[in-house]
Amino acid sequence: MPALDKLDRAEAIVEALSRSKKYRDTSAQTIRALVNEELARHRNPKEAEKAVRKRLHNIMAPYLGDPDYSAERAELEKAFETGEDAHIRQVCLRILKSHESTDERLPILDRFYDEIFAITGKPGSILDIACGLNPLAFRWMGLPASTQFHAYDILIPRIELINAYFRLEGLAPLAQMNDVAVQFPQEEADIALFLKELPRFERNYGKLGLPLLDTLKVRWLVVSFPAISLHGGRSLVEMYRRYFGEMIAGKAWRIIEITFDSELVFCVEK
Ligand SMILES: C[S@@+](CC[C@H](N)C(=O)[O-])C[C@H]1O[C@@H](n2cnc3c(N)ncnc32)[C@H](O)[C@@H]1O
Repeated sequence: MPALDKLDRAEAIVEALSRSKKYRDTSAQTIRALVNEELARHRNPKEAEKAVRKRLHNIMAPYLGDPDYSAERAELEKAFETGEDAHIRQVCLRILKSHESTDERLPILDRFYDEIFAITGKPGSILDIACGLNPLAFRWMGLPASTQFHAYDILIPRIELINAYFRLEGLAPLAQMNDVAVQFPQEEADIALFLKELPRFERNYGKLGLPLLDTLKVRWLVVSFPAISLHGGRSLVEMYRRYFGEMIAGKAWRIIEITFDSELVFCVEK
């Protein structure tokens, strides 16, 4: 296949997927990277597109849930107009509840960041990697508006909602569309949060987990895992303790574990 022909084929698939109802809100950077990888694996472009669709479904995980982005943005604006903390928190809680990862964290949210920051110290700067809707928990972090809060995800309305919320809070709008499997974050910070995504990240992209953690320019890594399986209610603590221990066995990093009912957290000093 001549080089230009191959490029055209790749762009045609990227365009078709970027226009599709299911993936029109997904980062084109992500779609393009997957198309290039799968075209290198499959001679038949139809097969390549099928493989990309399958991977996108696992990566975007639409089954984990989404809020109504534009309606919730309007609700946030209204809540901030009242200036009432209770009202603002109520809207944030509803948004957090709409996605499985943050919903599972709600029962422990009051203690979650207090216990983590008791170990790491209160950060002046944060990287929230594969953030989902977690930045909407900012009010439960007890941090000032001067915090440099970098958040990375690959779903356009998620990043837009987070930046709208950051502006309302008086934070700099530092959420960005960035596929962290394509480009590891370059920003420096006190801590990086990589919450409940590492096993999926390794399944979706191969063994990129440790190189990502290794590259991050932070003093503390905060890596977490679900403590209970989504459907069966089975404990996952032993399995993920072993998984993470084996992954970072070669590193001279200090690790402090916190076990919450629904989440297993490792604070790792690099
Ligand atoms: C399971 S959710 C976890 C959300 C959040 N960390 C939490 O625990 O509340 C995974 C999130 O990672 C995002 N994601 C998946 N792959 C990504 C990538 N390569 N780069 C950036 N974000 C990614 C998804 O869009 C989704 O919002």
